[in-house]
Amino acid sequence: MLDTKTYKNVLLAVDNGIATLTINRPKSLNALNSDTLTEIGQALDEVKANEESIKVLVITGAGEKSFVAGADISQMHNMNSLEAAKLSKLAHTSFRKIEDLSQLTIAAVNGYALGGGLELAASCDIRVASNKAKFGQPEVTLGIIPGFGGTQRLTRLVGRGKAKEMIATGKMIDAEEAARVGLIEEITEPQNLMTKVKEIANQVMKNGLIAVGMAKYVIDRAADLPLDTAIDFETQLWSETFSTKDQTEGMTAFLEKRKPTFKGQ
Ligand code: CAA
Repeated sequence: MLDTKTYKNVLLAVDNGIATLTINRPKSLNALNSDTLTEIGQALDEVKANEESIKVLVITGAGEKSFVAGADISQMHNMNSLEAAKLSKLAHTSFRKIEDLSQLTIAAVNGYALGGGLELAASCDIRVASNKAKFGQPEVTLGIIPGFGGTQRLTRLVGRGKAKEMIATGKMIDAEEAARVGLIEEITEPQNLMTKVKEIANQVMKNGLIAVGMAKYVIDRAADLPLDTAIDFETQLWSETFSTKDQTEGMTAFLEKRKPTFKGQ
């Protein structure tokens, strides 16, 4: 069973079924260089390999100021197109691993979520933010476009108009506006952020986790399919839940007027 694992630029800790992956380069406001992106991928492999003990994954940034202030500009400024493509693919590979986890993932946005940082948060299932957090895709202010999924995942979350506004102006929005446009689900006082995140995680962990994983899977995988195909896909996964012990337990517990004890089987 995994408890804590230390990398150079990220920390992975597990406590009572909740893994917390902390991007840990506070001196650079947790900017993502290639080593950090590689380590994020390695940590996610650990989370995937430990499904038995890890039920929910939380991603956050070290320090009080920043979640992640983007890709590392000092690493990028001399890159050529081939090196840029390599960095973008590395980020895509790591961020896709977040979406491919069966466990629910929550971004705990403790400060700046800019560029690659917002792209990282957008790869999680749920975003909870401090009321001090700021969100933006400032790439055009550097003469580039978002390259870690921002043109796609941000657009899917907030719609084309808002995504184009954010990307074309490069302006930051505050947590209130982020909640209003559907970019984040909850806002908290900074000191309550992790408590709120854990509250959500604990609520999720009381449920049938095979069902949680399947719901996440069908929501993501069917999002871009035609409705008829998508609802067929839902029917298929819905019917599969009836072959789990969790379904028997959940419905039996309801009929017996008691709380269910799910085993994830
Ligand atoms: N890359 C590298 N270093 C960064 C960084 C980044 N993205 N963001 C901040 N830092 C570093 C700063 O250079 C500074 O380092 P030094 O102390 O060595 O000078 C340190 O972090 C603290 O930053 P500031 O002094 O700038 O702090 P501030 O409070 O004055 O400003 C900020 C905070 C508004 C977030 C500002 O740091 C900023 O604008 N950062 C860049 C944000 C950005 O443009 N992100 C997008 C990057 S491009 C991208 O992500 C492409 C993509 O699609 C993947």
